Amino acid sequence: MRKTIIAGNWKMYKTVVQAIELANGLKRELFAVASDEIDIVLCPPFTALSEVGEVLVDSNLQLGAQDTFWQDEGAFTGEVSPMMLRDIEVKFVIIGHSERRQYFGETNESVNKKLKAALGAGLVPIVCVGETLKQREGGETFKVLEEQLREGLKGIEEQGIEGVVIAYEPVWAIGTGKTATFQQAQEAQKYIRNLLVKMYNNEVAEKIRIQYGGSVKPENIAELIRQPDIDGALVGGASLTTESFTAIVKKASEVRK
Ligand code: PGA
Repeated sequence: MRKTIIAGNWKMYKTVVQAIELANGLKRELFAVASDEIDIVLCPPFTALSEVGEVLVDSNLQLGAQDTFWQDEGAFTGEVSPMMLRDIEVKFVIIGHSERRQYFGETNESVNKKLKAALGAGLVPIVCVGETLKQREGGETFKVLEEQLREGLKGIEEQGIEGVVIAYEPVWAIGTGKTATFQQAQEAQKYIRNLLVKMYNNEVAEKIRIQYGGSVKPENIAELIRQPDIDGALVGGASLTTESFTAIVKKASEVRK
C-alpha cells in the first residue's frame, strides 16, 4: 500500500514567531501519529523554513518548501535553489502550484526544469496539476491533466518518477471552500494513474502517490482518503491552525489503519 502523505501549504502566511508557534503546536498534537504510516509535511514560507526545521528535529513531522529554482546558484535575484533548500534540511518541495502558474508565469516547461533540479538535489517534489473551472466546464479536464503531466514529467525516467508525489488540485476548488466531490477527485486521480501506466508502466504507476488538494477540511478528509487513488492531501487554508491540521492528519490516519 502507498504511504499516505498529508502536506500543509502555508502559502504567504505566518511570521517567523507565528510559524514556530504553529510548528510547536503540531509537533505536540501529532507526536503519536506513526511516521512509518503517514508522511506529515509542513511547508512554511521561505523566511520561516530554518526555524521551523529546528522545531521539527527529532519529530515525526517533515519540512517542505513551496517552490524552488532550477539552478544551484547564480545571478537570479529573488530565487532559492534546491541546493540551498537541502542545506537547511528541507526534504519536500511543491512545484507548479496553480497560484504560481496563475500569478508568476509558471509553465509546464519551468515545472519540468524545477522537477529535474529538485530530483537531482535529492528533494521529494510535489508536482501540482489541475484544471480551471472554464476547462472543466469545457470538458477539457483530462486533456489539461495529460498536457501538464506529459510536459511536466518530460524526460523523467522510471527511477526518478518513483520519488515524485503528484498533487491533483482543481483550481476551482482552491481556497474557494468548494471541494471537488470525492467522486470527481477519484475520477481525475484514476485518470492520472492510468496515464502514468501509459507513460511508464503498471508497477511504477501503482507506486506513485497522488494527493488531492482544494478546500480539504477535517469534515471531508475521511471520504477523500477512502478513495482508492487518493493517497493524501495538500492542504492550504486548513493547515494554518493547529486544530484543523491536527484533525485532518488524525482522521486520515484513522481511515488508513
Ligand atoms: P486550500 O488550498 O486548501 O486553501 O484550498 C490548497 C492548495 O492550494 O494547496
